[in-house]
Amino acid sequence: MKALIVGSGGREHALAWALSRSAELEELHAAPGNPGIARLGRCHPVRAEDAEGLLALARAVEADLVVIGPEAPLVAGVADHLRHGGIAVFGPSAAAAGIEGSKSFAKDVMRAAGVPTAATLPVARPPCVVKADGLAAGKGVFICRDAGELDAGLRGAAGLGGQVVIEELLEGEELSVLAICDGARAVPLPAARDYKRAFDGDEGPNTGGMGAVSPVRGFDRQEVDALLAAVHAPVLDELAKRGTPFVGVLYAGLMLTADGARVLEFNCRFGDPETQAILPRVDGDLLGALAAAAAGDLRAVTLEESDLAAVSVALTASDYPASGDAGTPIEGIEDAEELGALVFHAGTARHGETLVTNGGRILNVTALGPKVADARAAAYAAVERIFFAGARYRHDVAADG
Ligand code: AMP
Ligand code: GLY
Repeated sequence: MKALIVGSGGREHALAWALSRSAELEELHAAPGNPGIARLGRCHPVRAEDAEGLLALARAVEADLVVIGPEAPLVAGVADHLRHGGIAVFGPSAAAAGIEGSKSFAKDVMRAAGVPTAATLPVARPPCVVKADGLAAGKGVFICRDAGELDAGLRGAAGLGGQVVIEELLEGEELSVLAICDGARAVPLPAARDYKRAFDGDEGPNTGGMGAVSPVRGFDRQEVDALLAAVHAPVLDELAKRGTPFVGVLYAGLMLTADGARVLEFNCRFGDPETQAILPRVDGDLLGALAAAAAGDLRAVTLEESDLAAVSVALTASDYPASGDAGTPIEGIEDAEELGALVFHAGTARHGETLVTNGGRILNVTALGPKVADARAAAYAAVERIFFAGARYRHDVAADG
């Protein structure tokens, strides 16, 4: 099978790594890809949002399957464009991607499907959560515990344009449950937790994600299956009933409250950086699973969860998330790999022979171990072997695991 991955981050590198392990893979292509992916396949200079360019590329390389990583092209309808052109795609239509692209649409689907979520509030009064309705790359959510935070939140959300949603503030630990979906059925992936805040101790602003761990204590296959039945299955049914079946990864961001799990958000794609901790724990043919989902029939697919734990730590630019860094040489990746770690490129570029920084999150360093503590120790040992000026990372990823 010839596969084309769309995107250029650590998630797409992890996908490329996982697909490369399939016996069925003949050729791997990426658009635009990154220097890490270039070691596994061929990168093409086509942007992830360029629907026309991607269709032409998929035809030129005779791709049997296109896997779309990021949310922006999905919400913009790139999967629809490819499907209309006769290409098999893993990733939802623009209509189904609305589950991530519009908070109010997601709320409406959850209400109709009877899925437990935070209550929508008619008036903004603290404590509450203020959310911008559309895609905001993790920057559209404001937790408001007092009047000052509420003022700032309302201003911040209004500044992003579009509608604002006010929600009940939920307390508890968070959990990410991802499932591969074929429009009707869902095959679960191992549960994960990501570390969203920029600094140790969950301080500082929200980021795209500073690290991830899988498994999460108390959420083995049985508990994940129960969450799939309560959350993913009714949402898939509802979307199918509306004539917009969901094909791709349905990612439920959950809060584990004293009254049970509540959905905070849905994403219409693999999580980043959760994927960098989840995929190394999947035993089975991921390429076959994604192709079966794209073809609309997951009935013959099972994916097992490895007994090993995985921890992934993001190495970022010094000022991330405020700004990124470009052109700074990176050293020590081979040393880290010698320890057995997987080093996924998230924001890198090549200047001649030199690998340099090119983004906010630069690398995701993943390690496996018998227990979370072992994986964590191995991941940090590998992180310490990598150097670039200004490199920063959280020291407490999975410390609670
Ligand atoms: P979202 O963009 O909806 O995923 O929200 C980003 C983050 O904001 C979540 O991972 C939570 O940490 C937090 N969050 C969102 N909604 C709520 C809520 N209703 N109560 C508490 N925290 C929330
Ligand atoms: N790590 C959270 C996300 O992918 O949205």
